Amino acid sequence: MEYDNWQKEILKAEGDILVNTGRQVGKTMIFSHKIAQYMMDNPNHQVIVVSLTEDQAQLIIIMVLDYLQKNFKNIIQKGKNKPTKSRIWIKNGAHVISRPVGNTGDAVRLVPPLIGGDKRNP
Ligand SMILES: Nc1ncnc2c1ncn2[C@@H]1O[C@H](COP(=O)(O)OP(=O)(O)OP(=O)(O)O)[C@@H](O)[C@H]1O
Ligand SMILES: [Mg+2]
Repeated sequence: MEYDNWQKEILKAEGDILVNTGRQVGKTMIFSHKIAQYMMDNPNHQVIVVSLTEDQAQLIIIMVLDYLQKNFKNIIQKGKNKPTKSRIWIKNGAHVISRPVGNTGDAVRLVPPLIGGDKRNP
């Protein structure tokens, strides 16, 4: 699979990113790959992903894990901090957690270095 140009731009972009696209074009996948790359570049950082529903929250984790397993299998943490449906730790101490937060996001009160939202309302 080759990334589309807009997906390459997302991988390169720094700072806030807002994507306005149609359905099924590869948004969740590209942000999952960006999260995995961000974790590798930023030891001990925490990434929090907020989604509307539990299904979407889990899909992000599945896609991050799939990318890591295919490309960087040996950096996935094992044992106590092995991957679950809601979090992935890698061996440099970085990790991603993914939560369904409904429409308002009121449940997320942490201030992480990076927040990704999938189908988040403005
Ligand atoms: N550049 C690409 N080339 C080929 N297939 C791709 C590419 N990017 C993503 N895909 C595939 O497209 C499908 C949809 O990807 P994804 O779920 O990330 O899209 P989405 O935009 O988040 O969809 P939705 O609107 O349902 O949330 C997946 O099977 C994914 O592997
Ligand atoms: Mg999606």
